[in-house]
Amino acid sequence: MTSSNYKIGVLVSGRGTNLQAIIDAIENGELKARIAVVISDKQDAPALERSRKHGIEAVWMNPKQFASKKEYDLALALELKNRQIDLVCLAGYMRILSPEFIGIFSGKIINIHPSLLPAFPGLNVQQKAIDYGVKFSGCTVHFVNEEVDGGAIILQAVVPVHDSDDAQTLADRILVQEHLIYPKAIQMIIENRLHIENRKVTLKESIPS
Ligand code: GRF
Repeated sequence: MTSSNYKIGVLVSGRGTNLQAIIDAIENGELKARIAVVISDKQDAPALERSRKHGIEAVWMNPKQFASKKEYDLALALELKNRQIDLVCLAGYMRILSPEFIGIFSGKIINIHPSLLPAFPGLNVQQKAIDYGVKFSGCTVHFVNEEVDGGAIILQAVVPVHDSDDAQTLADRILVQEHLIYPKAIQMIIENRLHIENRKVTLKESIPS
């Protein structure tokens, strides 16, 4: 497989700025992949419009049309399998994935989270970081396992927390870094550069040319 045949499926629920960073990195050649499909659980997610603007298939899957989370996730997995996805990237996807979905794509799902995990998993984490009084926060790209925001860490970036910050100013500062490290982490996976032992991810020695 040549790297540009590497197919990504992106799951979104909202505005899609991380999706946009991935699209931009592909278009400027930093990321040697293509997005085969973007799937949202929310019909009005701006991320769907961003995808269509770049000629990327954008699909809304309505959770209300499925009897259970498991059935939704199995249908979601089928959509991705039908497009022979190599990697599932969560980019502001707000539904917790079922064990069944995680089992189907084991080791092939990654997420971006706006804190330095394992600190502050879950939601509203910029406010939690401010309330806790940390002096640095940041973002984490990690593999997805059954523990929410608990999978092996691939890349992190650090930002300072200023005394004057509110959740929005901190989120904005973190977001700039998210857009840098998410495409970078994906490219590392595409190049098969990650060595994973237990939950520790290290970079493989590069082979001298
Ligand atoms: C980002 O902060 C990401 O870390 C988190 O959800 C937010 C999504 O933002 N998982 P966007 O939709 O990519 O703009």
